[in-house]
Amino acid sequence: MRVDRFLSNLPRYNRQQVRLLLVEKRVRIDGKVVSDPHSEVLEFSRVEVDEQVLQPGKPARYFMLHKPQGCVSATRDPQHPTVLDLIDEPDKDDLHIAGRLDFNTTGLMLLTNDGNWSRRLTQPQTKLPKVYHVETEQEISAEYALKFAEGIYFAFEDLTTQPAHLQVLGPKVARLSIVEGRYHQVKRMFGYFDNKVLRLHRESIGPLQLDNALKPGEYRALCTEEIHGF
Ligand code: URA
Repeated sequence: MRVDRFLSNLPRYNRQQVRLLLVEKRVRIDGKVVSDPHSEVLEFSRVEVDEQVLQPGKPARYFMLHKPQGCVSATRDPQHPTVLDLIDEPDKDDLHIAGRLDFNTTGLMLLTNDGNWSRRLTQPQTKLPKVYHVETEQEISAEYALKFAEGIYFAFEDLTTQPAHLQVLGPKVARLSIVEGRYHQVKRMFGYFDNKVLRLHRESIGPLQLDNALKPGEYRALCTEEIHGF
């Protein structure tokens, strides 16, 4: 089979991505870099992208989960239930989380066994907006939106956050859109104003919206459009 067809048959790549992978010389067949889309993949060829071997025996899998409160965004934890405990799938130990949430944060969480896909989704260069519904202890003044749009200095990382968009929905309720995923980012942004976040819920990541039909703790597989939608 031609290598371009072999790659675009995998759910993780669309045709345009395959063309790019080949042009950028990121594909190897049996250890040799190939850029010609006609290069042959034989039955026992070893195909790699960015040094990751593509295993035809293990299909790529993608799930969205409605993370409930009180569960850890990790695949293993000695004390608490993890998001993986909510998944009932064969080979679930191959899955990893694309974009963690804090213990008490709820909402959209993505799990996959496709490292290229999760890297593309989470890397700051992709600039996918992550949208959060936020409830706070104190009132949210007009000043917040200006400061969040300007960026907040995080001393620990020695960086200023990317411009973020705040929509105030009520005295202590807002929707915040950020393009990064720094450690405790939303809580630290509100922390700049000494305002504690009481509830935090992720509604979407880029074009992927949490399915309203999913109750906390439930999950479903992503459809093809969702997988290729960003
Ligand atoms: N920002 C936070 O502070 N916590 C989360 O869980 C996600 C974003």
